[in-house]
Amino acid sequence: MGLFNLLHGRKARPFKGIPGPTPSFPMGNAGEFLDKMRQPWEVCSDFAHEFGGVTLVWMAGQPALILNDPDLIGEVLESNWTSYYKDAPCKALAPVITRRSLFITNYGKGWSKAREENAFSVLNQQQFLSQQIEPLQTVIKRDVEQFIDRSKSSDIDLYWDTQKLSFHAFSQVFWGQTFGDQVFDWFQNLARTGDWRMQCKVPPLLNIPPVRPSFYTSRSKWYLMFERLVKEARKNPDASAPDMLNQALVHGPQLSDAVLAEALATNFFGGVFSGSSTINTALYLLAKHPNESEKLVAALKADLGGEDGYDLETLLGCKQLDFVLREAMRYYPAVPLYLRNSVKDREVKLGNHTLPPNTMLFISNYYLHKFSHHWPESEKFDPSRWDKGVAEENPFASGHFFPYGRGPRACIGQEYGIFYTKIALATLLLNSNVELDPSQKFNQHFFFGVMMPKGLKAKFHAPG
Ligand code: HEM
Repeated sequence: MGLFNLLHGRKARPFKGIPGPTPSFPMGNAGEFLDKMRQPWEVCSDFAHEFGGVTLVWMAGQPALILNDPDLIGEVLESNWTSYYKDAPCKALAPVITRRSLFITNYGKGWSKAREENAFSVLNQQQFLSQQIEPLQTVIKRDVEQFIDRSKSSDIDLYWDTQKLSFHAFSQVFWGQTFGDQVFDWFQNLARTGDWRMQCKVPPLLNIPPVRPSFYTSRSKWYLMFERLVKEARKNPDASAPDMLNQALVHGPQLSDAVLAEALATNFFGGVFSGSSTINTALYLLAKHPNESEKLVAALKADLGGEDGYDLETLLGCKQLDFVLREAMRYYPAVPLYLRNSVKDREVKLGNHTLPPNTMLFISNYYLHKFSHHWPESEKFDPSRWDKGVAEENPFASGHFFPYGRGPRACIGQEYGIFYTKIALATLLLNSNVELDPSQKFNQHFFFGVMMPKGLKAKFHAPG
């Protein structure tokens, strides 16, 4: 502590009065985040219990604030959002998803242009989503049939198999076709490199490009394939085809092949991990609460199980499905932690504090989603808590419930994400009986910025 203060006392002065764990030389508090027994969002939540809504930590010699206060988070992500930018994970992901990807561009022209031109901003979402119901059901049912078949001889590994299912589903929605295992392998190869770089504990290593030759092979095949698909579709765009590629070509702004290919490819990185994480979390929590599972299956049969299928309004109107997914995302949010920095060229006011330029902030929803003063019996998985106006009082992107983030930089795929997880869970449960041993450990695992439960096994049986 003494040596640490001696070296960094000047940097600590602007943060006077903000509580936090005692730093030690030379790592500060970074060791807490290397603890294999706790995930980083659990560390942030533990600090909130100990120190309150704002905690000062030291990542080696760099001070950072952990925010667990809804008002301060609101300032950073909403009311004063232009005073902050995304630093991490931009350098880590630039070789994987390219610099101009919406995920990692920053203010000014780059981000706002990419956001405005994105198909999710341009297309009428209700209309777009309505057209995805049938194609999505077909793709998901096909995978469920495979799960049922494979379950006769082995377990389904939910970590891998639901990622693949989501990958197939996204391929259909965004590209109008499903891709084979080779394309999934390129995707995984890119994601592994991105994840390694995002979790790299030695920042200077990020100045070095990835070294694995297979990364470059996968990257060029992945982007070339998508550019070729855009080029082909552009020759004769089909207004009646529901996929995002054709819809963006017909209704969207003129984008180059590379820019459109990149934007549609980013959707995989945006949603495959977070979407499959949410489905697995919901399946696990339902297995732990058989009454809730029975209630949900009964509601799905009543609301969505008719011979004639269902439309968007009916899917989104299935209350029990909505409550289960909200509760699963409250309980174990798929994206529990992300970062911002205050701008580099000036000090920024945050609450009563004045942040020096380029102060790093950790933002977590994990603690607030379980905040017991807000959520009665917060540790209980209870979908019915969302009834009687609670869902309206706590909409997505509100102070104590923001699984898709908050403010102008919140998830652009939120509406689609909610829709996709609903249709995926409903199709799985209407077309199979899921057998998941609830005594399995819910092993939170951090991959590509997403909390992914790893190791869950299940069997899928033909519905009785
Ligand atoms: C369960 C599913 C999903 C969850 C929980 C989720 C969560 C999030 C969160 C929390 C953010 C904000 C991060 C920040 O503020 O730094 C975000 C941003 C983003 N998400 Fe999602 N997401 C999901 C699905 C999707 C899907 C399906 C897509 C695309 C198809 C997508 C694309 C994006 C993009 C491009 C951004 C960056 C937006 C920007 O910076 O303007 N996400 N997501």
